[in-house]
Parts: sequence; C-alpha cells; structure tokens
Amino acid sequence: MKMIVQYLTVLLTLLTLSSANPPQMCLKMSPCGADCYSTCDNPCQCDVTRRGQLPFPLYGGECRSTGFCETPSPTLEECVEKGGAKCPTEMLSEMEVMERLTQFDYRIDVRSDEEWKAGHVNISLHTPGLATIPAVNYQHVLQGKEESSVLVYCRSGRRAFSAALNLLRYGFSTVYSLHTGGYPTLSNTIMQHSLQDPTTSPTKALCYLTGGSSVCPTPLPLSHIPSSSYLLSLGDHVTLVDVRPKSYTESLDGAVRVYDKKRRIKKFLKTVEEKRDTLVLFCEKGILAFSVAKHFIKLGWQGRVYFVDNGGYNELRELFRRHY
Ligand SMILES: *[C@@H]1O[C@H](CO)[C@@H](O)[C@H](O)[C@H]1NC(C)=O
Repeated sequence: MKMIVQYLTVLLTLLTLSSANPPQMCLKMSPCGADCYSTCDNPCQCDVTRRGQLPFPLYGGECRSTGFCETPSPTLEECVEKGGAKCPTEMLSEMEVMERLTQFDYRIDVRSDEEWKAGHVNISLHTPGLATIPAVNYQHVLQGKEESSVLVYCRSGRRAFSAALNLLRYGFSTVYSLHTGGYPTLSNTIMQHSLQDPTTSPTKALCYLTGGSSVCPTPLPLSHIPSSSYLLSLGDHVTLVDVRPKSYTESLDGAVRVYDKKRRIKKFLKTVEEKRDTLVLFCEKGILAFSVAKHFIKLGWQGRVYFVDNGGYNELRELFRRHY
C-alpha cells in the first residue's frame, strides 16, 4: 500500500512538472494576486495564491478559481471617438506628444528589435512586444516606475494602445498613448519644428529624440537619476555645474557656480578639459540648464555635457542628503 502511495506521489509530481510552463496569457498579473490573468472566455488554470497583493486600477471584474475575469476593455476606436472617463489611457497626437515629450517621466517604445534599431527616441525605454506580452515579463525595465507618467509609442498607434492597457493592468496609473502615428512620424514632426529656421538652436524635444549630439547636450531627466552616486558615475571627472543666477545663495557641495554672462562661461570653460571632464549642468527646472549647456556647445565645448531636466537643485539636494 505504502509503495502504491509513493508511486502515485511520484506520478503526480511528474504530471505537475509537465504543466509547469503556463501559456503567456496566464502570466499576467491579476488582482487575485496570482501570476495569472484570463478573460472569461479564455480561462487559464492557475493557482490563486497571492490574493489581493497587486493593484488593478483599470477594469472591473471578478476573481474566480480560473483566474480574473475582466470586463471588456475599450477598443482603440472607442477611446479615440469617445475618449473621456471610459478611456483608461490619454490619447495623444504627434503634435501633443512633441509638446510634452520632455515632460513624461519615461517614454516607452514597444516596437520590435528591428524597428528600434532603425531609429527610436534616444531618451526612451524599449519593451518590444509589450502590446501582446503581459507587462510582468518586463519587470527588469518597469519595476519601481509604476507611479511615474509614461508615454507609449509604436509605429501607427495600435500596439501603443494595447501596450498602454497592459501597463495599466500591471499597476501603472498615468499612461499616455500616441495614437495617430508613432516613430518615425513623431521624429519627422520634431525635426520639422526644430529646424524650420536653421539658425535657431535645437529644441529640447529634438535633444530627447537624438540624445547628445554635435548640437545637443545630453538630457538627464530627473526620473532617470536613481541616486546622487549615479551622477558621479557618469564619467571619471564629473563636475556639477550650478547655472542658476547669483541670487540663489546656496548650492550643492562641490558644485561650481557658473551664472550669467558669456565672459564667465568662457572663463569656466578654460578650467575644464574636453577629454577629461564630464559636465552636469543643473538649475531649478531644467530650462536654464538646457540653454546654458547649448551655449557651452556653441562656444566650442566638444566634451560630454549633460543637463538635469524636469527639476534641479531642490531635487538633487534631496538625493544628496539621502545618499550621503
Ligand atoms: C542614446 O545615444 C547615445 C549616444 O549616441 C548612445 O550611446 C545611447 O546608447 C543611446 N541610447 C538609446 C536608448 O538609444
């Protein structure tokens, strides 16, 4: 009898192991807390074990032993036509995205590897396939960013919308979706609006698109700075440069003050070396830091120059306080 029980146990273990790889649909997070998510007409057998641990702000539905049964999600067309309360993601056009490109905490490209390689917004994250694969599979990229505002883009708008829904299911709450196009139409829009007059300097949006270049300082959005030591790891000789006006009396420890006039900027540039030094400019919000950084480039600085964006002194001071 004992033998038979043991035999049955082994058999059961083998059976369980053979079904250990659930289909991807089953890997979505659900409010039931299981690593499982399903629609009512496509239930997947899954273990509802971690009940109630995960947020699920998007849809109504109910927990069942087969998973979470979601009420139907709106389609892209419904969101575009009706918008408003029923639509869980804000739908934006290229023009709107261009105007706000630098203000999202993160920009997420959900196109394939090949499309990404052919061109993408430099200051963005890449989660190829997020339109069809649950966001939990991209935890290495997404974890800890759930409270941030994110823009999702693809090529035509369709994948971005599905990916946006997946982010909401995962626990994001502020998700924007570029729905009238994507890359490269967004890229064209930004180029056109940045280069209408060849003598004007690049817009911030263009610098987010291209990253650091012969005309652009490298954007460093505050949301991308995990700690003060990260700033110091940007190069072997990092110089923090406070470009706020003289009227701000306090600065960060070790930061160099470079305010107003060209003469001072030139004088400062003589003290640093292109090959050796990495400059990280900051102000209060990122506007002055961007324009002074562009000025450095105009004056001939060819070394690495970053500008802290979407914040500055106050947020950095907080980081330095926490990490020292
Ligand atoms: C942004 O551009 C820089 C410089 O060209 C490059 O080293 C970096 O890998 C780019 N980042 C992304 C995400 O494309």
